[in-house]
Amino acid sequence: MEIIVKDTVEEMSKAAARMVARAINAKPNAVLGLATGSTPLGLYQELVRMHKEEGLDFGQVTTFNLDEYVGLPNKHPQSYHYFMHENLFKHVNIPKQNIHIPSGTTDNYEAFCAWYERRIVECGGIDLQILGIGGDGHIAFNEPTSSLGSRTRIKTLARQTIDDNARFFDTPEEVPIYAITMGVGTILEARKIILLANGKSKAGAIIAAIEGPVTSQITASALQLHRDVMYILEREAASELAMLDYYQWIQEKMPDAP
Ligand code: F6R
Repeated sequence: MEIIVKDTVEEMSKAAARMVARAINAKPNAVLGLATGSTPLGLYQELVRMHKEEGLDFGQVTTFNLDEYVGLPNKHPQSYHYFMHENLFKHVNIPKQNIHIPSGTTDNYEAFCAWYERRIVECGGIDLQILGIGGDGHIAFNEPTSSLGSRTRIKTLARQTIDDNARFFDTPEEVPIYAITMGVGTILEARKIILLANGKSKAGAIIAAIEGPVTSQITASALQLHRDVMYILEREAASELAMLDYYQWIQEKMPDAP
């Protein structure tokens, strides 16, 4: 586990973009796992800039998104299809056929979920998974008490998540109650994971995920079982970590390690 603390959201996003660019430069046909939400917006902006100004080439990259709302058509402004298209895909050169996002409108969810899992394996597995974290400690839409071995499936969203999302919809009836999401077990199979978090509202989830026990109450805590996780945290999100001084000490001393 590695913890990097940055003073601003912009620095957090740039540090994450450098890691993604490094992964693509090392392996041009890298398989990326992608998240939506407000947290990775700056990361996507920086990747778009790197593509346009520095020639970062996504021509052989494959992507898998974590989740999608059930029932929202791809063109709905709150769908994660729309989000990804607007914030990343329309600006970079990822071949259309290499983009995978769970379907919120399939007529057979069970078959789709099984196909999504198979497709990840067929593409060689996820090399680098980007994650955000919910205020309740969820990763993807794996709400509290999700099995830590779960695979891609339909999840009923927690009340807190539905309420958090209500601000994006015109009426409360429009807020989706179900999502299709990669499971915790699916995420743990990624070769490398980077979790981003910013803002004071994430500080409780971050301390629980990093320094608390491994528990399905905080599905991000399952990342303690993964051997290559990097947390890139903006200072406010990291502010409640009890061992923050130690993590910073490690960062300072690591370059001189034998
Ligand atoms: C989105 C996702 C969610 C978000 C989390 C944080 O694809 O998987 O787990 O990462 O809900 O959302 P934001 O970044 O909006 O605070």
